[in-house]
Amino acid sequence: MTKHILTTATGSPVADDDNSISVGERGPLTFDNHYTFEKLAHFNRERIPERVVHARGTGAYGKFTVTRSLSDYSIADFLQKEGEETPVFLRFSTVGGGQDSNDFARDPRGFSIKFYTREGNYDMVGNNTPVFFLRDAIKFPDFIHSQKKDPRSNLPNPAAMYEFWANHPQSLHQITILMSDRGIPASYRNMHGFSSHTFSFWNKEGERFWFKWHFKTNQGVKCLTNEQAAQASPFGAQQDLVDAIDRGEFPGWTAKVQIMTEAQAREYHINPFDLTKVWPHADFPLIEVGQLELNRNVENYFAETEQACFAPSNLVPGIGVSPDKMLQGRLLAYQDAHRYRVGANANQLPVNAARCPVHHYQRDGVMAGMCPAHGGSNNQGSGVNFYPNDQINSGAAAPEPSVEEPPMPVLENAWIRRHGIANDEDHYSQAGALFRLMDDEQKSQLVTTIAEGLVHASESARQRMLEQFSRADAAYAEGVRMAMERLASPA
Ligand code: HEM
Repeated sequence: MTKHILTTATGSPVADDDNSISVGERGPLTFDNHYTFEKLAHFNRERIPERVVHARGTGAYGKFTVTRSLSDYSIADFLQKEGEETPVFLRFSTVGGGQDSNDFARDPRGFSIKFYTREGNYDMVGNNTPVFFLRDAIKFPDFIHSQKKDPRSNLPNPAAMYEFWANHPQSLHQITILMSDRGIPASYRNMHGFSSHTFSFWNKEGERFWFKWHFKTNQGVKCLTNEQAAQASPFGAQQDLVDAIDRGEFPGWTAKVQIMTEAQAREYHINPFDLTKVWPHADFPLIEVGQLELNRNVENYFAETEQACFAPSNLVPGIGVSPDKMLQGRLLAYQDAHRYRVGANANQLPVNAARCPVHHYQRDGVMAGMCPAHGGSNNQGSGVNFYPNDQINSGAAAPEPSVEEPPMPVLENAWIRRHGIANDEDHYSQAGALFRLMDDEQKSQLVTTIAEGLVHASESARQRMLEQFSRADAAYAEGVRMAMERLASPA
């Protein structure tokens, strides 16, 4: 086997990696220890800011295989042919904890897929739940502050969590999912993934369809109770995924879509762009379209998983966004986070780089010139760096009008102003319907878990939460009230 000589970062051979240069055996170090300084200085810079949410995660590579062409709905190149395979990178995560926090928190799980298509990277940055706590991006920082650590104690604060929720009945549906027996997935392999948001497809006739992604686990849904989660190894979900892939037991998900036409969206009784609501399957059945498989672990966690940058704005021709107010906010938030967390040229890192040629007129910035796909690894060399230019016929990049998205319809007689929640105030029906689907054991688990947090909230927050539960179902409120009583005076 070839032996390698240890070198400095710039390739010079290193004579000794155990001892610094010092004045005598017991004396101080000297300035000619530039190799020791190189090591210490690089070490100081080993961390990048962790993600502000979803900091703890694990990633793997795999493939997406089309089983039903979507050409009737979308021109997206990777969705045209049955049997077509697209390489993917997927990152799972918890939301609230830091990078080394517990994998088994009662918390939504992130489910982010990067599809490396021939027409650029398409990212689906979803969760394991079909809805979310909020429906306007303006609320996101407040919400996350209330769920993460208390500014004084640096500890989780259930009183703050419920204070936020008491003021936001829109969260009730997602609270009911999170506090239910499905609130702690037993592993990343045993949970579904959802786009949650509504996105749009457009086809070659220029027709637009609204759609949602559903990725149903082929391993079956498995969850933990609070007691099981407390016993589980803190990094067990990461271990489970890495080990399964190493064993050759490749986890899979069946990809499905729900589709709504523009005409249906105009008439439907639920706002199709409200992220706190699902589209009932009876009205919008799931259409099976593909298989997702994970089959390769990362070689280097930091380079690949930690520096992975997923953005809902990474779209490809044939897939567009929707007027969902949360999604619109996310179109800004993620790329901004990447510029801060990883750098202006984050998309040149191998895990983020497109697997198709990239031609643009962006130049320079920290670490420019990393990626061969970006016009050569030399910051696009001497190529022209402005547009329009006179070199289009000799290889300079030019826009392609055929990929223009059809105009986005506004489904109402719209006025530009802040639209409050008054025009759609039913935060309760879907939460109540979900509660009534549960058996007695599931209901008991739900109300007990809620009560365990709610007892820490102020009297006023408790009353407002009970009012919300009762609007969903009287038995829901009664169950939580009795569970709180039991906690206050255990038998
Ligand atoms: C307006 C609301 C939201 C804002 C402002 C927001 C913001 C962010 C930010 C800044 C990050 C860190 C990105 C990074 O550093 O790479 C992040 C990560 C993430 N968010 Fe959101 N988020 C929002 C709502 C949502 C929703 C509704 C979902 C799911 C449906 C979601 C799923 C995720 C996932 C899965 C990640 C982790 C991505 C990864 O694996 O790297 N977020 N979010």
